[in-house]
Amino acid sequence: VLSRYLDGIMIRTFEQKEVEDLAEYGSIPIINGLTDFCHPCQVLADLMTIREFKGRFEGLKMCYIGDGNNMANSLIVGGLKVGMEVSIACPKDYQPAAEVLEFAKGYKFSMTDVPLEAAKDADVLFTDVWTSMGEEAETEKRKIAFKGYQINDDIMAVAKADAMVQHCLPAHREEEITEKVFEAHANEIFEEAENRLHAQKAVMVKVMGPQE
Ligand code: NVA
Repeated sequence: VLSRYLDGIMIRTFEQKEVEDLAEYGSIPIINGLTDFCHPCQVLADLMTIREFKGRFEGLKMCYIGDGNNMANSLIVGGLKVGMEVSIACPKDYQPAAEVLEFAKGYKFSMTDVPLEAAKDADVLFTDVWTSMGEEAETEKRKIAFKGYQINDDIMAVAKADAMVQHCLPAHREEEITEKVFEAHANEIFEEAENRLHAQKAVMVKVMGPQE
């Protein structure tokens, strides 16, 4: 019915299968606005912001510190696809999806549980909340599991001197990122937030605009 009412649907939900079912049974464009598996629209904005500040992707190292969640999955795929090196630091029990790690084979990709190792010489540092939407009941357990998985001065000290910091927001200051690092990089982070708008418009033009 929605396919007859609408020109397209952007769906934000939990289960990836719900999005895929909608795309299979609908006849209009379906845009993934976030699932617990991936967050592709966010990562388009992130890549746009990196290109805006750094002018290129080739030769750059992207590092993600934290939960191997939807953001980690999409950053690995997005970062590698545009030609960046990607390093991930996550606790052993919170790794990215197996199929994403499979995809990463053959690319310049590394994974460790030591944040300082992953951040070495990084050009762009990412993190995300320790507890994602829908996982609120695990908050206390996750606070213990993710202790130390934080972008702070020690991490900035081993990254490149001109490293940029990105966060998909909302940030939990003093958990996954310190107040100090967040404020020092607020301009890059809010540019990233603005770029959600521009990247999103581009997706709509691509899937709902005039077809070439
Ligand atoms: N991992 C976070 C991303 C929020 C934009 C979540 O799923 O809640």
